[in-house]
Amino acid sequence: MTTYEVNGQAEEISATRQRSFPADFLWGSSTAAFQIEGATTEDGRTDSIWDTFSRTPGRVLNGDTGDPAVDHYHRMPQDVALMRDLGFKAYRFSVAWPRVRPDGGAVNEAGLDFYRRLVDELLANDITPWLTLYHWDLPQTLEDRGGWAERSTAYRFAEFADTVHAALGDRVEHWTTLNEPYCTSLLGYSAGVHAPGRQEPSAAVAAVHHLLLGHGLAVSAIRARDPKAQLGITLNLYPVDPINPADPADVDAARRVDGLQNRVFLDPLLRGQYPDDVVADLAPFALAERIQDGDMATIAAPLNMFGVNYYTHHLVGADTANAENSAPHTPAGSAWVGAGELRFADAGLPVTDMGWEVIPDGLTRVLRRLHEEYAVSAIYVNENGAACPDVINDAGEIDDQDRIEYLDGHLRAALAAIDAGVDLRGYFCWSLLDNFEWAWGYSKRFGLVHVDYQTQVRTPKNSAKWLSAVMQENAVPA
Ligand code: NOJ
Repeated sequence: MTTYEVNGQAEEISATRQRSFPADFLWGSSTAAFQIEGATTEDGRTDSIWDTFSRTPGRVLNGDTGDPAVDHYHRMPQDVALMRDLGFKAYRFSVAWPRVRPDGGAVNEAGLDFYRRLVDELLANDITPWLTLYHWDLPQTLEDRGGWAERSTAYRFAEFADTVHAALGDRVEHWTTLNEPYCTSLLGYSAGVHAPGRQEPSAAVAAVHHLLLGHGLAVSAIRARDPKAQLGITLNLYPVDPINPADPADVDAARRVDGLQNRVFLDPLLRGQYPDDVVADLAPFALAERIQDGDMATIAAPLNMFGVNYYTHHLVGADTANAENSAPHTPAGSAWVGAGELRFADAGLPVTDMGWEVIPDGLTRVLRRLHEEYAVSAIYVNENGAACPDVINDAGEIDDQDRIEYLDGHLRAALAAIDAGVDLRGYFCWSLLDNFEWAWGYSKRFGLVHVDYQTQVRTPKNSAKWLSAVMQENAVPA
């Protein structure tokens, strides 16, 4: 037996457990439109909030923007060939709303054509398209009308979903509505570190509800078009632990952060209601007041699959030094609306280039939570991966042993979850290619494939070759 530390308690997991994944386990890689496409003004595309945000001095490191990113818009067939050669069976990508309905308005066939070509290319190479509708690139015009803080944006999103399904529904079976609504709402509208860069806690809380509503409306729109469509959403879930489990103030801080990071999304989607404690924490920001008749049933419409993005954990305590400022006060620029003054700590684990602690057991925990607390089936890890300080050596190779170790640990953690009864059906690595890492610009490299930003030359890193072998064997190394 091997002993693992899970949630502060030693758990024994059989050392003889399978190295192999289930026979039909789906292996894929992930990207997102704004992070790779470039071509931000071509074929009728208009600005998204990330174009505006990245052009605003001081918002993105080094003034990096989405142009030309990795020029995927023009290099798509070669990138699909790369996926095929590495052995990926699925590709998770997103559709740029401002290409397809520029300014959030009329349908732009030239924009849709790019995704028609992409899907055709994938299918011709036996790669399953795994389509995400919203990966953060709201048309700027819709933000000018209030963005996700406005209820009407949820309806515009459902129209966009309907448009994309009308064009691609005959060839794409798997549809994800939103990627990480936590980031869109709380990082975009309260912390202000993501587009649109607003620091308005009430707007962020409104955005939480309107994103969930938009998800539900998009699900209904696509279901009406095709009852057989496979529909899901992707959340970034974190295990959240108190710094001092014996200190009730820290335990309560962890509860509040878990509420905002995880449960404010999980509970409406999977139980049809916001958690009472989160509603109470968010009372100063009027969460309950946003809910209209029928909304919760729309949000909780049954799904066919559930996506998890996992990178790291949160270790949190109450900031007692600032106790007099605690809830409902929320400092401008905090994602933790209504959570009071917090203190985040490290557990002393190794970190990636993002500064995120590497804690593979956390993946087992979030997967087990979905299974045990929410009875979720058909789960996919839609993102997992590491930013590493990659260097090209004299032999022209990127020998990223740190990324290999990260992936190996997390794949074993995924196997541990399967052993524990989790219905985990697939794993998508973030990311196929180095790309635009949001506020960090091009300074952080998550790719399995290195991109030289001067020449756009793609070079598979050793991690890509390693993962290729894992996928081929359908098993982690002995
Ligand atoms: C979350 C996001 O979905 C993706 O866009 C981002 O690049 C990765 N995780 C890494 O931060």
